[in-house]
Amino acid sequence: MGFRQDFLWGGATAANQCEGAYNTDGRGLANVDVVPIGNERFDIISGKRKMLDFEDGYFYPAKKAIDMYHHYKEDIKLFAEMGFKTYRLSIAWTRIFPNGDELEPNEKGLAFYEDLFKTCQQYGIEPLVTITHFDCPIHLIKEYGGWRNRKMIVFYERLVRTLFTRYKGLVKYWLTFNEINMILHAPFMGAGLVFEQGENEQQTKYQAAHHELVASALATKIAHEIDPDNMIGCMLAAGEYYPLTPKPEDVFLAQQKNHENYFFIDVQSRGEYPAYALKALERGGIEIDMTEEDVTLLKQHTVDFISFSYYSSRVVTTDESVEKTAGNIFKSVKNPYLEASEWGWQIDPLGLRTTMNAIYDRYQKPLFIVENGLGAIDMPDESGCVKDDYRISYLREHIKAMKDAVELDGIDLLGYTSWGCIDLVSAGTGEMKKRYGFIYVDRDNDGNGSLKRTKKKSFDWYKKVIASNGEDLS
Ligand code: BG6
Repeated sequence: MGFRQDFLWGGATAANQCEGAYNTDGRGLANVDVVPIGNERFDIISGKRKMLDFEDGYFYPAKKAIDMYHHYKEDIKLFAEMGFKTYRLSIAWTRIFPNGDELEPNEKGLAFYEDLFKTCQQYGIEPLVTITHFDCPIHLIKEYGGWRNRKMIVFYERLVRTLFTRYKGLVKYWLTFNEINMILHAPFMGAGLVFEQGENEQQTKYQAAHHELVASALATKIAHEIDPDNMIGCMLAAGEYYPLTPKPEDVFLAQQKNHENYFFIDVQSRGEYPAYALKALERGGIEIDMTEEDVTLLKQHTVDFISFSYYSSRVVTTDESVEKTAGNIFKSVKNPYLEASEWGWQIDPLGLRTTMNAIYDRYQKPLFIVENGLGAIDMPDESGCVKDDYRISYLREHIKAMKDAVELDGIDLLGYTSWGCIDLVSAGTGEMKKRYGFIYVDRDNDGNGSLKRTKKKSFDWYKKVIASNGEDLS
């Protein structure tokens, strides 16, 4: 019983939140670079801020982040010391194709990731690579309107073909799009969408989502052609919706909200648009431009495994007057039975088991938890060490629930990568002080700090968890 012997324990990061070096070695500008820290971070969509460039008066944390571009050897060494079996990272698209529509890739960008993967290999760490983690080249947004344009599939195809060919033998596990369902809530980050005045936003979002779904199926096809050993996963921002009350309308609403998210994975895993989605699109007057070729691709090239992030469950009710709380990108009704993090994200370890069961029941494919963790304010003590017992406790409870899902419910789970294994820039707020790591990085919200890496208390705890394959959680 317990976790499989080859269980992939590790941690996860995303290029734009840790690499920095935003214009080094030919890297081009991307949407993820031009989102500043603070309340106006995503106001690009509402048109309050100008866009697609750096403006005076704002601090853009991704420009430098934790400068992993120049520290990756040191960082991977620390991951190896913790015993990581896998390291989830993402490719910055604009390192490979700075504008996105070039015919030839940027060799310096390719060489950077090649060396990074070889460093992982040296320590026996299996890379788990997200092809796009919210990033879209600015040039593709300006010239083509981001993922609303079908041509994006061609540019994405060029990117994946380049990656699968170059890294054959070095990388086996790939995720096509990070949290693909986030396109509905953060369309600039999810798909490089900037809406025109009066544009039918729902129509644009679902068309863009369709292009991503087709691109994902195409990537799956190409990956398997180039190397049959490649394992391709989709990636969902998960967290089951609970009804606030047993009122049938609340229960029904929870089911509808779950559909909203599962729609994406239904297509990627089952290979076709589910009936409920076709009906909902029809009711909403949304017409998807879908070719015969799209339908065939989606049907024939479904994913090998389902990966997802889990931070919390979600709650809904038809009663609009109830209190809401923050969550991963979007708000949810407050669950009166749960505690919350300093950012208001509610903490529900059993919800992880519930979510795993819901996903596994639905798809019957191996699962991979690729994000989970606690964003907290860490204060180093006099000795410089962060005693993050709160993080250990969060992770312990979630790992216990995940273990129950494996041992008691029989779920096939490939691995677990906790989010932000080294402190990095928050995707939601752009803050540095919202830390998730086992490794503290000396850098603050204003960009001050030496970038020095220091182990937190959770570092040794996680090392023990991995060494015992999840048996010793004390
Ligand atoms: C997920 C993203 O939504 O949540 C990550 O895939 C992100 O990029 C993580 O960092 C945690 O969110 P935040 O806002 O606390 O950084």
